[in-house]
Amino acid sequence: MEGPDPFAAYHEALEARHLAKLTFAEVRRALQALSSVYVERRGRMAEGAVFDGAGKRAAFALYYGPMHFLLVREIVRALGLRAPRRILDLGCVTGTAGAAWALECEPRARVDGVDRSGWAAAEARWTFARLGVDGRATRADAVAAPLPGPPAGVLAAFTVNELAEEPRRRLLARLVEAARMGSTALVVEPIARRVSPWWPEWAEAVRAAGGREDEWRFRPDLPDRLALLGRAAGLDSRELTGRSLLLPPGL
Ligand SMILES: C[S@@+](CC[C@H](N)C(=O)[O-])C[C@H]1O[C@@H](n2cnc3c(N)ncnc32)[C@H](O)[C@@H]1O
Repeated sequence: MEGPDPFAAYHEALEARHLAKLTFAEVRRALQALSSVYVERRGRMAEGAVFDGAGKRAAFALYYGPMHFLLVREIVRALGLRAPRRILDLGCVTGTAGAAWALECEPRARVDGVDRSGWAAAEARWTFARLGVDGRATRADAVAAPLPGPPAGVLAAFTVNELAEEPRRRLLARLVEAARMGSTALVVEPIARRVSPWWPEWAEAVRAAGGREDEWRFRPDLPDRLALLGRAAGLDSRELTGRSLLLPPGL
């Protein structure tokens, strides 16, 4: 989309917001702990270990939020997605993935973020305001969230891997149905197999329904402080990677 990129100013404001209360070293340690829950100690997610402290919340907001913004923006651009009027962002946390898609739409789409965490919904509202996106965020179950009328975008970025088997099945059926009704459904997940062991089954179902599967590697131009945070926590942020499933409208 034409016009100045609001990402740099958003990232600066984000740093000021979170580093007013915590030091860089505290955020770095929290980012290491958070990343370990995501990658090695996944059983702890169900116990609520992801957002159980101010440090981990800030770490998510300062690192994963912006990284997901940049990744989803690149995916939306590469797939040339049709602009929906509204985007439902399932498991939105800080809302950056939905906002990234909305900012690529002309006219800009409205975003409805849904997350089971009350902290996440509040943080997403802040993100939408900073990025100039018309957005709302509520605390609710992502699997049961009402779907906006078509043509809408339904986005699940890094959320499906947190669902148990039964709600995950229900969500897949809902995404296929949303696309049949004329909306676009986009699922983004990490490439790591152990994070999303259900992926092959979903990919097959999506292909059978007329959708597509992609794997992505981008070289992002990160703000220096974001690259520094990733490096300090031992994360490789030179490449943005992920895989996606796309169910195009009107399958
Ligand atoms: C890794 S985060 C998603 C990241 C975010 N979409 C992004 O791209 O930055 C997963 C989120 O899903 C939320 N979540 C997991 N299961 C949920 C459910 N059943 N209903 C609502 N939110 C859920 C968690 O609270 C968490 O905030």
